[in-house]
Amino acid sequence: MYPELNDVLALARGAGAILRDFYEGPLTVEHKGAVDLVTEADKASEAYLLGEIRRRWPGQAILAEESGVHTGEGEALWLVDPLDGTTNFAHGLPIFSVSVAFAVGGVVQLGVVYDPLREEAFCAARGAGAWLGARRLQVGAASTLVDSLLVTGFPYDQGSNPDNNLDYFEHLVVRSRGMRRLGSAALDLAYVAAGRVDGYWEIRLQPWDVAAGMLLVAEAGGLATRLNGEPDVLRGPCSVLAANPALHGLLRQEIDAVRAQAESGV
Ligand code: IPD
Ligand code: CA
Ligand code: CA
Repeated sequence: MYPELNDVLALARGAGAILRDFYEGPLTVEHKGAVDLVTEADKASEAYLLGEIRRRWPGQAILAEESGVHTGEGEALWLVDPLDGTTNFAHGLPIFSVSVAFAVGGVVQLGVVYDPLREEAFCAARGAGAWLGARRLQVGAASTLVDSLLVTGFPYDQGSNPDNNLDYFEHLVVRSRGMRRLGSAALDLAYVAAGRVDGYWEIRLQPWDVAAGMLLVAEAGGLATRLNGEPDVLRGPCSVLAANPALHGLLRQEIDAVRAQAESGV
């Protein structure tokens, strides 16, 4: 038995309520790496999501950020980021989300990105559109960089790995209307779908960061792909680009040009 969009929405809302409770109180924070944090809220949210999925859809596979791969039978796969924006959350910065996606045979069918503080649930079902409440989502119409508000992010190893997105950022920040770094990849994609920002790219993300958000963008009339244009992001680390189709093409050209210049050593 497969879930419906309302089921995924209920899961995301349930996890979001847990995050809201933790956000208001004192928090235990641990380090996964030098700057990569995990809080008790991440763990509690993930435990809730895994428990509910197993109880209602037993035997289905799950890929969850904090506990990894849970193998299952059949073609179904859940992709769970229990708290996207942990750094913001741990600092009391109110920009974070829950991301839950459901895929069959490697194709994402349902996706919800939920912002528990604003109580905004961005929902998409393949072929049926993307929605924020009763409002159908549509990507922005900007087709030039100077008319575009862009958003990006930086990997956790930005201080130690020279492949850290600063070259793309430097190139695009001076050519666009503005650039934002919000700190939740799932919300960045949801905001592209809602037309709140025009374009988004980021390197070295994981499937649980982007599975729901990329479906939102696609169902809102946009293009969401790997930086090289390939559509599939469910197999391991991925660098992604999302925008309306015209801006997506333009951003790809700019990013390719920056990469070519770096590779030529000029
Ligand atoms: C992070 C956020 C952030 C992005 C990082 C992600 P997390 O996810 O989405 O915006 O820049 O690359 O890892 O760790 O808060 O779930
Ligand atoms: Ca994440
Ligand atoms: Ca997370």
